Amino acid sequence: MLIEVEGGRKAAGELTVQGAKNAVLPMIAATVLCRQTTVIENCPRIQDVYSMTAVLKDIGAKVSWEEDKLIIDTASVTKSEITQKEVGDIRASILFLGSMLGRMQVAGIRLPGGCSIGARPVDYHLAAFSAMGAETSQQEDVICCEIRNRGAERVKLPYPSVGATENVILYAVLRKGTTILENAAKEPEIRELCEFLRQMGALISGDGEECITIQGVSELQGVVYRLKTDRIAFLTYAAMVAGSGGSACLRVYGDTFEAEKKYLAMTGCRMETTGDQIRVSGEGGIRPVPYIRTEPYPGFPTDAQSLFLALLSRSYGESLIEENVFENRFLVAGQLRKMGADIEVAGQRACVRGVTRLHGEMVQATDLRSGAALLLAGVMAEGKTMVDQSHYILRGYEIPVENMQSLGLCARYVV
Ligand code: UD1
Repeated sequence: MLIEVEGGRKAAGELTVQGAKNAVLPMIAATVLCRQTTVIENCPRIQDVYSMTAVLKDIGAKVSWEEDKLIIDTASVTKSEITQKEVGDIRASILFLGSMLGRMQVAGIRLPGGCSIGARPVDYHLAAFSAMGAETSQQEDVICCEIRNRGAERVKLPYPSVGATENVILYAVLRKGTTILENAAKEPEIRELCEFLRQMGALISGDGEECITIQGVSELQGVVYRLKTDRIAFLTYAAMVAGSGGSACLRVYGDTFEAEKKYLAMTGCRMETTGDQIRVSGEGGIRPVPYIRTEPYPGFPTDAQSLFLALLSRSYGESLIEENVFENRFLVAGQLRKMGADIEVAGQRACVRGVTRLHGEMVQATDLRSGAALLLAGVMAEGKTMVDQSHYILRGYEIPVENMQSLGLCARYVV
């Protein structure tokens, strides 16, 4: 599928930004921990959510939608093995390992594949489960975990992996006794998962810090939970407004994007918050940012890196971006160069020299965020940009074309 963007329009309008993809995916896995109905409001209708719910249905859950509400009934989940194709489509499916272990003490799952941004192994997840008393075995690409003994009370991750932190929490909430997780990830999505689990009855403290303590409980209840706004979707639309040189209003629920706002402000983008609305203006042009390095939260997020590569390519100076989380995240630089950007990549560093014009081209998305970065580049370019392989964008963005139109930008699907 192609998305066509015609550049040269200044954004003007308003938009309600979707709920957070990276928060809802672990919550969907978490519903396996209770035997009741859970309702997630403000849930984005995106491909990654559909892939996770397909897995849920396969293990016996009932899933339905009412407008923006995702309704999940896990009373009849019986299967402890997930082997169907959707698992390979989405990396977050590995999170079912933690929740199935919590519910059934045994779980088997087809390993999610790597993707274009890097190899993305799951060794930290498996080592943590082993430390917590699981015996792990692998047959071809199916991994099996079974709880054999009580295991350690303290588990330390070698790196603050977001997924491994979530998986440990998911298993630990129904585990007997106390679990202390050290070197945990601190991303806002971890806090949101814990907030959701606490509402279900879990006892967790320390989330958002390096050490998280989980006191096991015997059961969890179904809840109605309203998902907060997606911080990277907020950044994407705010960058489009800034890059177009226009001004628009973004409506949000729960402000979890301090880091994104801090870095956007460095580019000269102005943001004024009134209640649940953020007015974004980019009328003074894009300033270069001398040095940005991606890091675990609260550092600059790797998911924002491609977007900044695109935005800074139209700045009036030189910027340096260093990628430290995923090894292949500069693939988009080649596509941006086709549009006239001056970006030189050497290893994990990209030097971006701002140019005065980008021009429309046929370009190709290679992952979700590179696709969003190309839409942004299309907004800033002269003429028409065609973004091929745009199904990647729909993995994480709900109605991106319609949203761009709400901001007064010119975009359409070309089938
Ligand atoms: C999550 C986010 C993703 C974001 C990333 C980093 C979701 C659904 N996805 O991905 O959007 O870009 O955090 O903020 O929330 N690693 C290992 N072994 C492991 C686990 C991770 O080597 O067992 C490595 C990865 O290859 C990567 C780094 O650790 O280099 C960070 O990965 P991690 O924080 O686990 O990212 P995800 O949870 O996959």
